[in-house]
Amino acid sequence: MKALVNISLCLLLTVGVGYSQVVNGKNVAQKYGCFACHNIYGPKNAPGFKGISLRAKKSANPEKYIINSIKNGSQGKWPRFRNMVMPSFKNISDEEAKAIAKWILSIPPKRVKNFGK
Ligand code: HEC
Repeated sequence: MKALVNISLCLLLTVGVGYSQVVNGKNVAQKYGCFACHNIYGPKNAPGFKGISLRAKKSANPEKYIINSIKNGSQGKWPRFRNMVMPSFKNISDEEAKAIAKWILSIPPKRVKNFGK
């Protein structure tokens, strides 16, 4: 019985920590105004974060790929948005950029109800 309680506690903790990470990255993205140009799913003034996630996962280091784009900005990689420029976010901290990257990479394939709310 005691073991069962311990296992349940562990599960709760794991799920809890995973969830707070997801919420955190989204909050940071909100703080820096990413959603002025990006949607989570589908294009806006820029490619959707889910599409970006799929593209980043083709690279050797998806997290680094996204962090680089945030810190240095991006232009010309997505033909559909060739007239748009992604500004560089030089002032963002490493932790914040990493939290956003983790969040983007965690976006589920379909529109999951309440994801990112
Ligand atoms: C002014 C509009 C704008 C804002 C604000 C903006 N982006 Fe972008 N972002 C773009 C555009 C446009 C592209 C596509 C650029 C390209 O084609 O290379 C892009 C591309 C990206 C890419 C992928 C680049 C690639 O190589 O595939 C990432 C990652 C990204 N944005 C993350 C963010 C994050 C995180 C924020 C907030 C910190 C943010 N963007 C804010 C316009 C914006």
